[in-house]
Amino acid sequence: MLLTNIQVATMEGEGCGLIPDGVIALRGGRIGWVGPHTDLPDDMAGQDSRDLGGRLVTPGLIDCHTHLVHGGDRAREFEMRLEGASYEDIALAGGGILSTVRDTRAASVEDLVAAALPRLDALLAEGVCTVEIKSGYGLDIETELDMLRAARALERHRKVRVVTSFLGAHAVPPDYDGRADDYLEEVCLPALRAAHREGLVDAVDGFCEGIAFTPAQIERVFEAAQALGLPVKLHAEQLSHLGGTALAARHGALSADHVEYATADDARALARSGSVATLLPGAFYTLHESQLPPVAAFRRHGVPMALATDANPGSSPLFSLLLAMNMGCTLFRLTPQEALSGTTRHAARALGLADAGRIAPGMRADLAVWDVGHPAELSYRIGFNPLHQRWFNGEIA
Ligand code: NIG
Ligand code: FE
Repeated sequence: MLLTNIQVATMEGEGCGLIPDGVIALRGGRIGWVGPHTDLPDDMAGQDSRDLGGRLVTPGLIDCHTHLVHGGDRAREFEMRLEGASYEDIALAGGGILSTVRDTRAASVEDLVAAALPRLDALLAEGVCTVEIKSGYGLDIETELDMLRAARALERHRKVRVVTSFLGAHAVPPDYDGRADDYLEEVCLPALRAAHREGLVDAVDGFCEGIAFTPAQIERVFEAAQALGLPVKLHAEQLSHLGGTALAARHGALSADHVEYATADDARALARSGSVATLLPGAFYTLHESQLPPVAAFRRHGVPMALATDANPGSSPLFSLLLAMNMGCTLFRLTPQEALSGTTRHAARALGLADAGRIAPGMRADLAVWDVGHPAELSYRIGFNPLHQRWFNGEIA
């Protein structure tokens, strides 16, 4: 099958790797060939083809940081913050993440799947083909496993690839108040090992913050992950600078996420470890944050930047990756090209995926076809969805 009469943003090499009059050959769910129309090999010319009318084709988008599976919502806290309470005040009063924990514990796997599907559908409608989903609202062994089972089950309900992260170190549950180390020993690490045995974990995440876990505590989780052969990533430097980014870099993390309070030294550390900085403008916006992530330092040191929704019921009720791209540009001053790299090739890297995020021979044929004339249009409009078609695994989804 050939896709013809297209502009292709391959996301290979410099910029978007744009091919103005391109052809993509699909072969068994993979990209067989891509290049300018004029270079199409003779033996391919006779295949079935589909004329896409000059539209732009990008890799299927990748949302590399979400908390899509959870019970309940936190609309009341949205109101409380507007009345003056801070995110940390609400968390310390037993709300915040812990309020979602109560609702998630009360839900069955089926309930969690049913609640996640409309959120997932909003992402898929904008060309997302791969989504990362974290646990972290269970904070007991069985509910952490159920969240990951629900995340995996979504792949059976929709044409999407789900990558899971175990986030048992997200908050200290009330029954372990003041005993974070006991929680790690008795719940978090046993849950991680059980989830890994069940094949539910692709990576291990944590929340390194004053209202969550210290770097020393996160290090215990990372050591347990590495003993199981699992890659790590971290919510780091979101509300304060505790050294999570440097810790993540020392452990060769796939990514350090949020990173508003990261420093130029942190950027150097990420560059050395080859970790991605994942920027989450939805949480920055929702929490009225004013500290900007050190984008210039990331650029200077060549740290790849990913962009994601951080879709969650508290700090980032954002279910549009295109809006995350727009916010990345307007709030963080990314270029539209950086925003697109952030939801394709760099997002793939933040998930450790070598077969997605670029259009090149051998890569998965997960594609988004857009009714736009230029890649910058994907970041430019607000609340407008120009998706024409989503291809998943070589088929229209
Ligand atoms: O990525 N930072 C910690 N975790 C989430 C927030 C979760 C919540 O508020 O429910 C985040 O922003
Ligand atoms: Fe998050």
